[in-house]
Amino acid sequence: MSKVTVIGAGNVGATAANVLVLSQIADEVVLLDIKEGVSEGKAMDIMQTANILKVNTVLKGVTNDYAATAGSDVVVITSGIPRKPGMTREELIGVNAGIVKSVVSNVIAHSPNAIIVCVSNPMDTMTYLIHKTSGLPKNRIIGMGGALDSARFRYYLTQALGANVNDVDGMVIGGHGDTTMIPMKRLATYRGVPVSTLMEKETLDKIAADTMVGGATLTGLLGTSAWYAPGAAAAQVVKAVLHNEKLLLPCSAMLEGEYGHEDVCVGVPVILGKEGIEKVVEIELTADEKELFDKSVAACKNTNAALEGALN
Ligand code: NAI
Ligand code: 2OP
Repeated sequence: MSKVTVIGAGNVGATAANVLVLSQIADEVVLLDIKEGVSEGKAMDIMQTANILKVNTVLKGVTNDYAATAGSDVVVITSGIPRKPGMTREELIGVNAGIVKSVVSNVIAHSPNAIIVCVSNPMDTMTYLIHKTSGLPKNRIIGMGGALDSARFRYYLTQALGANVNDVDGMVIGGHGDTTMIPMKRLATYRGVPVSTLMEKETLDKIAADTMVGGATLTGLLGTSAWYAPGAAAAQVVKAVLHNEKLLLPCSAMLEGEYGHEDVCVGVPVILGKEGIEKVVEIELTADEKELFDKSVAACKNTNAALEGALN
């Protein structure tokens, strides 16, 4: 029996729970929020959807009842405030650091063996905060950002190529921020053929630029940050862990010398399996890519500095 808890029953958390249930990724899912009734209501709505679609996964909504989360294999943290139009992810740090820290300590008290997937923004910094304050081994803390940013990159590529979604591959590394993420244009392929040989340089450059502001574009359209793809991306990470997929996916991981950096969480390709982050995969970067990656790391470290007292 596999059990997953999603903390935060807002837009992203409820969507993650919806995908986890309807795609039958876990046997049992718990959705927890501090707002009275919200997770209960959303869980009931999703379970009624499951009835229509004839899915048997159990989803339970609870208000701040951590006992109900006990024995979870994976816990997804989405609690916190999202960005509004004009805001950066980094501006959320003060409020979200307090929320994430207290939530994680409650989670671990009831599920000491859980693998944590951090979604709350600024995600790389929240992931770093969990590393610094939870005492969990580094393989059990996974930051979700690259899964989403890579999906946005592949979406734009697939549209431009008029391709089948199964045929286009591509990843985004670096920080989960508008100026810090790095769409890996050189490694994007259409059935193994580099996309750089299939489209004009200007087209590929525009796709990379659109990917980087992908979240801000949606925030502008929706008035709050996106949730369908973020929720599905969180569920993709959970599935890779629960099903021991050995999936190569960019996630925010604590670096200890890989890519020439340490004491920072940033998006790098990792292998996801039953132990969480089972390996950081070091791909050879060109000089230009390395320069972008180094800048991205510096920006993440700069944001981490704003954690100040929250690290104690
Ligand atoms: P939302 O406002 O719809 O939901 C957040 C939920 O967290 C609310 O229901 C709120 O009541 C709950 N919450 C607040 N404090 C809590 C606590 N102490 N315990 C339990 N629940 C608590 O926000 P949304 O859109 O779901 O976004 C959630 C977070 O995810 C934001 O920080 C957002 O920036 C981030 N995000 C990250 C992405 C990524 O790729 N890493 C993508 C999209 C959003
Ligand atoms: C997103 O990328 C804001 O992190 C959020 O949609």
